[in-house]
Amino acid sequence: MIPTPDLSHLTHKDFDHIYEPAEDTFLLLDALEQDANDLKTMKPSVCLEIGSGSGCVTSFLAKIVGNQAVYLTTDINIRACHATCHTALANQAHNVETIQTSLVDGLLPRLKHKVDVMCFNPPYVVTTSEEVGSHGIEAAWAGGIDGREVIDQLLPLVTDLLSATGIFYLLLINENRPLEVMKILDLQYNLECKMLMERRAGRERQYIITVRHRERLPQLK
Ligand SMILES: C[S@@+](CC[C@H](N)C(=O)[O-])C[C@H]1O[C@@H](n2cnc3c(N)ncnc32)[C@H](O)[C@@H]1O
Repeated sequence: MIPTPDLSHLTHKDFDHIYEPAEDTFLLLDALEQDANDLKTMKPSVCLEIGSGSGCVTSFLAKIVGNQAVYLTTDINIRACHATCHTALANQAHNVETIQTSLVDGLLPRLKHKVDVMCFNPPYVVTTSEEVGSHGIEAAWAGGIDGREVIDQLLPLVTDLLSATGIFYLLLINENRPLEVMKILDLQYNLECKMLMERRAGRERQYIITVRHRERLPQLK
C-alpha cells in the first residue's frame, strides 16, 4: 500500500483557503494506486495535475512514478500553488513545478502531445454560473450548471495534451452526467474512455474515468 502523502505542514487555517483532501481526492489516489504497475512500466516523463489544491495527488503520483519524471501542476488559486510546493518538499517529490493559471492556459502548444499522466479532480458541484471563476476556496467546488462549466472547458484540450500512450484520470459525480462526458470525448474527440472506479461518498456518487488516444499513433505531431 502506498502511503498517503504527509500534509502535516498544512494547518486548519490553510484549509480555509485551499481544498482539504476528501473522499474525491482519495478515490483519485485509489485509482492511481490500482494502476501503479502500469504507470511504473510506462515510465512517464511528464505528469500534469490540473487543480492541484494541497498537492496531495501529485505527491502521491510521484511516490508511484519516481523522480525521473517532471510534475507540472496548475491551480487558479495561488495559495494552492504554494501548498502544492510545500507538500512536494515535505514528501521528497522532486521536479514539481507549480503554475498559477486557469486549466492549462499558457502551457499549450509547448505541452502538445507531451503529457503521459494527467489528473483532474475538478470543481464539480452544481452551482450558479456566477459562482464559477473565483480564485479563492470557492474555486475548489463551484462547477456551475450541471457542475460541468470548468470540466467542459478542458474537454477540447485533452487530445492535444496527451502523449501517444498518455492517460488522463478525471473525477466526476453523477450530476456531471459522466456517461455524457465520455460520449463527448469519444464522439467529438475520438478518445477512448473507461469507467475505472465508482464510489458512494455521502450523498454523492463519484466516478473516475480514464481517457486515452484510441489509436496509439507512433508519431503524434
Ligand atoms: C476539488 S479541488 C481538488 C484539489 C486536489 N486536487 C485534491 O484532489 O484534493 C479542485 C481544485 O481545482 C482548482 N481549480 C478550480 N478551477 C480551476 C481552473 N479553472 N484552473 C485550475 N485550477 C482550478 C481549485 O482551486 C481546487 O484547488
